[in-house]
This record gives sequence, structure tokens and C-alpha cells, in this order.
Amino acid sequence: MDWTKMLAGKVALITGAASGIGRATAQLFAEHGASIVLADTNDVGGRQAVENIRAKDREAIFVRTDVGKMDDVNAMVKATLDRFGRLDIVHSNAASYALGSATSITESEWDRTQAVCLKATWMIAHAAIPAMLTQKQGAFIITASVQSIRGYTHHVAYQAAKGGLLAMTRSLAADYAPKIRVNAILPGAVITGLAAGLSASDLQRVANMCPLRRNAPPEEIATVALFLASDMSAYMTGSCLVVDGGLTAVIKTE
Ligand SMILES: NC(=O)c1ccc[n+]([C@@H]2O[C@H](COP(=O)([O-])OP(=O)(O)OC[C@H]3O[C@@H](n4cnc5c(N)ncnc54)[C@H](O)[C@@H]3O)[C@@H](O)[C@H]2O)c1
Repeated sequence: MDWTKMLAGKVALITGAASGIGRATAQLFAEHGASIVLADTNDVGGRQAVENIRAKDREAIFVRTDVGKMDDVNAMVKATLDRFGRLDIVHSNAASYALGSATSITESEWDRTQAVCLKATWMIAHAAIPAMLTQKQGAFIITASVQSIRGYTHHVAYQAAKGGLLAMTRSLAADYAPKIRVNAILPGAVITGLAAGLSASDLQRVANMCPLRRNAPPEEIATVALFLASDMSAYMTGSCLVVDGGLTAVIKTE
């Protein structure tokens, strides 16, 4: 194994790749030898990310995709297979959501959050897994959240979706083993677009809740995605990896 090129010859499809965790993962996978399909609703960020990868002599394309729409998801997988002829790694990572409690959000906000944060992963599996099965191998990675396993105010739709992703991880792992390994990452507080609305003092308050006393850059989640995409995790499927600086492991009293 060449540890500097763990994904040599592989084709990886990453959703939510225009920014944050998805973008850092796309860059890292490319550095490790994979050709990358970046999918997102954000054309500008997606095309910039592609240019950054191509500048390092790696292959990458951007496919504008709303992962909450079946037609877009099917077109995204078709574009991948048309361009590269195979699909080895899927990272279902995109998210956007309505903030609110059960009594404050609307039905359409609930439905849209479930479509983008939960149903999308099923749609991506539905479209991508047949090609991966034909190749008799594949790695499917799902970005869940510490909010999959802990309650938090004003996030009812997001937390329901992220909790469902853990169940879907195990279900997909059961159905498609041994050919396809399916694992989830549960990030804690990561400095990305999703944190853009938080002030410096809010970010520090969140950091202080972690034993490691800091929030993560997206690159520290991308390294875990690389582990799950590569043969380093060959004996893992159905696992849900918490990557949160210790946030959910301790009750901080100081
Ligand atoms: N940042 C955190 O603290 C944190 C913590 C736990 C989990 N997560 C999860 O990490 C994942 C990545 O988020 P991030 O933190 O990198 O945020 P981000 O906002 O930087 O990236 C999310 C990306 O998803 C894209 N996106 C949104 N809706 C989409 C849609 N319908 N179709 C396609 N793309 C869409 C956005 O344009 C954006 O590029 C998400 O699943 C999020 O829930 C983040």
C-alpha cells in the first residue's frame, strides 16, 4: 500500500463539495489519487473547488445537483459514469435545514429538511449502488452529526434526519455487504459555512464545551472520510464514527 496515494485509480462522488467538509474531502481524496465528481447547488464554489483540484493535475468535474431531487441525483450519477466509467466511493454529505422547534417550523420546512438531509442519501444509494455492485466493491460514507445522538434546541427537523442516517447506515451496510462498506461520520463543531452565522464568542463557547477546547477545521473531518474510503478501514462496515473533540464523551464541569 502506498500511504501517500490511498485512493489511486478510484472515482469518488462527493455531495456538498462546494464548501466545508465536502470541499476539504474532495481536495484530500484528489491528493490521494482519486478522480472526483463534486456535486452541489453552489455553482461558484463548486467550480472553484474543481479548479483547485485540476491545478494539482488531478481530474475533477462539477455537476450542479440538488440532492433533494431524484432527477438531479440520477443525473449526477449518470454524469459520473459517463465521464469516468466507474464509481468506487460515494460521500453523501450535503445538508441544509430549517431551524426551529416542532411548533415553529412549517410542514414544507420539515419536508425539505428531510429531503436534503435524509431522503437524499437513500436517493444517492438507489442511483449509485447498482454501479458499485457491478464492480463488486465500493465505499459509501454518510455525514451524520453529533446531533444524530444528542438533543439540541431548535433543530427538530435536522436531528430527526441525522438520527435517521445512522439507521440507514446500518441498513445499507446489512444489504450490500460484503461488496460495499457503508459507514457514517458524526462531526462535532466544525468551522464551515454552516457555522457562518455564529459570532466569535459563540464559537469560543462551543469550543469550550469540548475537552480538546477547540472547534475543528473541515480538514480534520476529511481525514476520517479518507480512512473510511480507503482500505485502511477494510474491516469496517455499519460503523458510526464520532469525530467531535470529545464533545459527546464527557460532561464538562469546568
Ligand atoms: N459544520 C458543522 O459543525 C457540522 C457538524 C455536524 C455535521 N455537519 C454536517 O457536515 C456536512 C457538511 O456540512 P458543512 O459543515 O461542510 O457545511 P457547508 O455549508 O460548508 O457545506 C454544505 C454544502 O452543502 C451544499 N448544499 C446544501 N443544500 C444542498 C442541496 N440541496 N443539494 C446539494 N448541495 C447542497 C451547500 O451549498 C454547501 O456547499 C453536512 O451534512 C452537515 O450536516 C456539520
